[in-house]
Amino acid sequence: MPVPEVAGRVFGDGLDYAVRFVEMLERYGVERGLIGPREVDRLWDRHLLNSAVIGECIETGARVIDVGSGAGFPGVPLAIARPDLEVVLVEPMARRADWLNEVAEVLDLDISVQRGRAEEKALRKTIGSADVVTSRAVAPLARLAGWCLPLAREGGMMLAVKGASARDEVARDAAAVARVGGGVPVVSECGGGLLETPTTVVRVVRVQAQRSVRRPRRAG
Ligand SMILES: C[S@@+](CC[C@H](N)C(=O)[O-])C[C@H]1O[C@@H](n2cnc3c(N)ncnc32)[C@H](O)[C@@H]1O
Repeated sequence: MPVPEVAGRVFGDGLDYAVRFVEMLERYGVERGLIGPREVDRLWDRHLLNSAVIGECIETGARVIDVGSGAGFPGVPLAIARPDLEVVLVEPMARRADWLNEVAEVLDLDISVQRGRAEEKALRKTIGSADVVTSRAVAPLARLAGWCLPLAREGGMMLAVKGASARDEVARDAAAVARVGGGVPVVSECGGGLLETPTTVVRVVRVQAQRSVRRPRRAG
């Protein structure tokens, strides 16, 4: 597949790694059930570039946990475009987690893969907290906030790639997000001036640690 000119600007020195990731997905993505057949022709614009540009919202040297990486989005392109980041991919399905480990090994990327569900206490304990918790196409905003915010340090944020539904989800779920310790969700775009269709993201800062709700003690 021809490499779009903009890919050089987005991936910089990592362009060869991005090309190899596309080649792996072209070769194995459909047969291993990682991507649909229609996605093969739009791997660059709908998947790699769209994922990598969210790095615009992430500070240098941040620790990033990508929840529900699936075939590797947005975590793998992000790690390629931003080698300064420490990236942990979280994925519950064994065959997808195996794929992510293979990608990390073949491309010699400094990422770690953790099999499990974001809301599991044991997983949270193992992977610790992050400055930024990313996700794409994993769950509606309210549920996602309940999974992602506990993985962010206080003052850190969740960064959810969303499509056209972003503003509606924010209007519907802002109160639920606040209940799990999130600030006001902000919709913004990444990749403007680079991509034909910029990536829409919802950013939520973790403003306070989740409080456990204790039942009052009975008298006597
Ligand atoms: C629709 S896929 C999206 C994959 C990838 N983020 C993308 O944009 O191509 C949703 C992914 O989220 C994972 N997932 C679902 N529930 C999850 C949870 N509770 N914690 C972490 N990952 C989860 C699924 O296994 C699946 O790989």
